[in-house]
Amino acid sequence: MIQTAPDLINLAYFISALLFITGLRKMSSPKTARSGIWLAGGGMIIAVVATFLHPQVVSNHLLILIAIAIGGGFAFFQARSVAISNMPEMTAIYNGLGGAAAAGIAIIVLLRVSEHTVSAKAVAVLGGMIGSITFAGSIMAWAKLKRIIAKRHQFVNRQVLYVALGSVVLMLGLLLATSTSSHPMLLLVFFVLSLVFGVIMTLPIAAADLPVLISIYNAMTGLAVAFEGYVLANPAMIVAGMLVCAAGVLLTRLMANAVNRSLSEIMYSGFGISHSGIAEPNTRNSINEIDPFDSATSMAYAERVVIVPGYGMASAQAQHKVQELTQLLEERGVGVRFAIHPVAGRMPGHMNVVLAEAGVPYEKIADLSEINPEFSKVDVVLVIGANDIVNLGARTDTNSPLHGMPVLDVDNAGSVIVLKRGDGAGYAGVDNPLLQHPKTRVLLGDAKRSVQDLITAIKSLD
Ligand code: TAP
Repeated sequence: MIQTAPDLINLAYFISALLFITGLRKMSSPKTARSGIWLAGGGMIIAVVATFLHPQVVSNHLLILIAIAIGGGFAFFQARSVAISNMPEMTAIYNGLGGAAAAGIAIIVLLRVSEHTVSAKAVAVLGGMIGSITFAGSIMAWAKLKRIIAKRHQFVNRQVLYVALGSVVLMLGLLLATSTSSHPMLLLVFFVLSLVFGVIMTLPIAAADLPVLISIYNAMTGLAVAFEGYVLANPAMIVAGMLVCAAGVLLTRLMANAVNRSLSEIMYSGFGISHSGIAEPNTRNSINEIDPFDSATSMAYAERVVIVPGYGMASAQAQHKVQELTQLLEERGVGVRFAIHPVAGRMPGHMNVVLAEAGVPYEKIADLSEINPEFSKVDVVLVIGANDIVNLGARTDTNSPLHGMPVLDVDNAGSVIVLKRGDGAGYAGVDNPLLQHPKTRVLLGDAKRSVQDLITAIKSLD
């Protein structure tokens, strides 16, 4: 087998690290994000090839190639065929698999105890624990996003349960790290309890808190990978893991600020759970419907229109029609902007990605803090498949699971048109007083169909 010089391997890892950092930097802007992804992907290929050629990797080359072909092939074809609306679920699963990979490395290390120092085993234990929690938690988050688990499960004395289970897992970890012989049964219990921790950590989280938890898992995956990189003395894994961890921590802070929650509130206090339970949605109650022609007329003769996209727009794949509608309105002299809430859709940046895909210029997009003071100067707000991010109950209803989350103040505009299909409440599953607001009219139907109807109606005005 090829015996590549360690210096060359380290040089390859160094180049990978540079590509990861440059790629991540470029991902901070939609204009350069695509090239950033290519750079980071290239860095990953270099790191994988360098590891494959590492002098210490002396056997099982065929098995490694088969595993890469199966895993890489599956991911390649799935990524090509996944609908943009299913992207958040896919991200949650792949995030979880990163944690599982870190846990897998920890299992091997802890089964070969004699080959490793106590400090390496201790770091492997930490990485294995974090990786398992992330894996189980991400699978639960995936199930919640897919609505396989629709209910929010609460535990009495959640904090006590966390401390008790966490203490047992750490005690077992200590035993494993300091033991001079392998203990497969102890190892099994350690990993099963870590997985259980991930499950119970995710079950009580819902509504606006779920995106924050997904960001936390993202950061934790990076940390687990970095720990296992330390154990394997693999610099590329350490750098990649720490980059993911740092980016995840920053994203978590941004998401927590966006929904106005502190991390401890999200994790420990059951914040967002009403004492009287969650209200059943009752959206059909006294809504004022509007037809496409009247909607089109009010927009076509407006000076300023703001479009608020939400999960329903992505789900209906209406973004290209929305861009067509925007161009049509602008040709008539209407000023059009987009207002994006930080947790709109089902993953961070979901709406930015979908709108960028449709060619909406980045300059037209405003975030919550920028657009909220502007709504009083807006004639018409077009809410497309969004609910929780414009839920007026978040401001006043202390029983709402959304209470305290800043929302887009669309009710300050002259009028509001909401595109939705029917009775469906938003992700949080609660009634939205905006739908009964005197300024609001609802255009019922699938978002793509409704936007097409608006386009047809505006063209008929000429
Ligand atoms: P939601 O609150 O989920 O509201 C979506 C709305 O779109 C619903 O009112 C639904 O009503 C409508 N809709 C669905 N499909 C449609 C279609 N084909 N055509 C027209 N309308 C359609 O979305 P949002 O306002 O974007 O809020 C996001 C929620 O997801 C927040 O609670 C957030 O915390 C949560 N979440 C976000 C993330 C991230 S990171 N963004 C991750 C996990 C969870 P009908 O069924 O009546 O049509």
